Amino acid sequence: MVVPGSQHIEDKMYHPPEGLQKDAHVPDFNCYLELYKKSIEEPDVFWKEVASDFYWKKPPTGQILQYNFDVTKGNIYVKCMEGATTNMCYNVLDRNVKDKNLGERVAFYWEGNSPDHHEAITYGQLLGQVCRCSNTLKQMGVRKGDRVAIYLPMIPELVYTMLACTRIGAVHSIVFAGFSAESLCERIMDSQCSILVTADGVYRGEKLINLKQIADEALEKCREKASATVTRCLVVKHHALRTQDGDSSVNLTPVVFPVVQTPWDAACDVCWEEVMGQVSEQCEPEWLDAEDPLFILYTSGSTGKPKGVLHTVAGYLLYTSLTFKYVFDHQPDDVYWCTADIGWITGHSYITYGPLANGATSVLFEGIPVHPHVGRFWEVIEKYRVTKFYTAPTAIRLLMKYGLDPVQKYDLSSLRILGTVGEPINPEAWHWYHEVIGQKRCPVVDTFWQTETGGHVLTPLPAATPLKPGSAVSYHHIYIHRVHSVFSREPRSGLLLQVFRRPWPGIMRTVYGNQERFESTYFKKFPGFYVTGDGCRRDKDGYYWIAGRIDDMINVSGHLLSTAEVEASLTDHGAVAEAAVVSRPHAVKGECLYCFVTLKDCREFNRTLVDELKRQVREKIGPIATPDFIQNAPGLPKTRSGKIMRRVLRQIARNEKDLGDLSTMADPKVVEVLFNHRCETA
Ligand code: PRX
Repeated sequence: MVVPGSQHIEDKMYHPPEGLQKDAHVPDFNCYLELYKKSIEEPDVFWKEVASDFYWKKPPTGQILQYNFDVTKGNIYVKCMEGATTNMCYNVLDRNVKDKNLGERVAFYWEGNSPDHHEAITYGQLLGQVCRCSNTLKQMGVRKGDRVAIYLPMIPELVYTMLACTRIGAVHSIVFAGFSAESLCERIMDSQCSILVTADGVYRGEKLINLKQIADEALEKCREKASATVTRCLVVKHHALRTQDGDSSVNLTPVVFPVVQTPWDAACDVCWEEVMGQVSEQCEPEWLDAEDPLFILYTSGSTGKPKGVLHTVAGYLLYTSLTFKYVFDHQPDDVYWCTADIGWITGHSYITYGPLANGATSVLFEGIPVHPHVGRFWEVIEKYRVTKFYTAPTAIRLLMKYGLDPVQKYDLSSLRILGTVGEPINPEAWHWYHEVIGQKRCPVVDTFWQTETGGHVLTPLPAATPLKPGSAVSYHHIYIHRVHSVFSREPRSGLLLQVFRRPWPGIMRTVYGNQERFESTYFKKFPGFYVTGDGCRRDKDGYYWIAGRIDDMINVSGHLLSTAEVEASLTDHGAVAEAAVVSRPHAVKGECLYCFVTLKDCREFNRTLVDELKRQVREKIGPIATPDFIQNAPGLPKTRSGKIMRRVLRQIARNEKDLGDLSTMADPKVVEVLFNHRCETA
């Protein structure tokens, strides 16, 4: 199998289907070029037109986008429509219900972990629930500008809470509900959240997770660190009320459903179901400046400490709304499904904000792709007649393994467009997706973007762009609205380094509480440019092939992990003197973690220790960070100045014998020892 990022470049082009072009928003390449030209030459006119679709309490005037990308000229900033006032929640809900008369339209088909659990939520119902939640948060003392931590699974209350925050001007900080207590605590502390919203428990596949207990541990850790900013914890009784009445998909013998013992502290905990029933279904939105903060979302940082990426109201609204409309060619009869979790940026932008801003009908999926059977995705597509489907290469690779049978049981004829995100897609997975799932009639939009970019920055448009399997984009097809992207030479590896010369409305504004880190991470390397941190190659047709991160981040199943953070959790163990973590290709995850550990004197390297170390990383960061390989490293390859030579470690992990120039290495003998201790299998 060709692994992602291996730069297998294919020249065959796949042209947009004519049927799709007929009614598309951007029906052909020339139309795209016109839009692109306008966005570059008259950005203010372009974005003002996009803004005219939305409601402004005080409309934008003057210059729409203001920025400085050059550190040598002062602070880095981006502002979009500063001075105008609006409200995100009003635009994605009230505007649809009141102005567009879409109150009866389904906003979400919620599909639970079990196929037994599902509900349809209309725009009108969503607005009512969001207003109740807004009033609840206000009653709990939340005010404009306050940060609210949300640690919820993929249930409707997650959407209610995030939109409620935006309605009252609070800033949500959603923490993926697979993160550990330690990670949750770190994020709560960094953004000094005053409220935590969580649930009692949730099934992920057959596994019951006691979220409230993890949330309590996180709050306890915050207290220990003398930084207890959270005063109240709002708890959704999801497991108790929604799933305990029976779930035929969970194979437990005898057939009883375990009751989560929800720890309860009456001084702090508030029961969602009780308070929501007592408050009004009306709540006047708070009118915010276009540049007021909207949310914080943490992403891994190369120093190990996660960065709180800050997005603001208006730019993010315009950007996610426009990219959703064009990249998925949104049509009123669509049923759209993005399989991401809202705990990541893909869910923020393309489950909640972008689709709702377009009045779309989406599937909100709590489950996992292989529960209760490996055809679950295809079953859900058939059930809701999904037309646009957006998932990650890692899920495609996982499901490919089960062959055609689980797919052929279901009717996938409703599908029109497929999308991928999060990591490079290898051509083998692309072809399977295109042929088996899309039945050769659906374009595959491979969308490149980041938590920081807010929305798609490099992507084909489904009716306008000929596709090459595995290429995220072609130069010509860089998404219309904006940026001249410049690919400068990266001297070290010969790869091109991906940078952007101009901002777009949805780009992050700062690292929360750390402007200095924002500037040094993204702008200092090439003054005048935003540096994404990804490398890429350009082929003879001008198509770009994303080659993955050029920094110390590892993309595991589409989630960025910081090697420094994993190393810190390993060295926290009493047996470990030093650790170094590198990536190794993985057939399903794309990349996985390969860890070298040097033990303290007298400590023995054995299976028990390996299991303990894996558990430790899992507990400190979360299950996604569990290492696949841990190898004994009596010594690490270092330069004479003591810097670990990660290139050499990567080559050892991949069993590449030709190590090139080792002249800077302090003690070349360690290499042979490391090859002798290599792990072949996980
Ligand atoms: O390395 C790129 C990879 O994911 C990184 C961003 O990760 P995150 O902020 O967690 O957001 C993921 C979802 C948007 C990028 O720096 N990446 C994302 N999309 C692609 C990709 N790599 C290749 N092809 C993509 N389509």
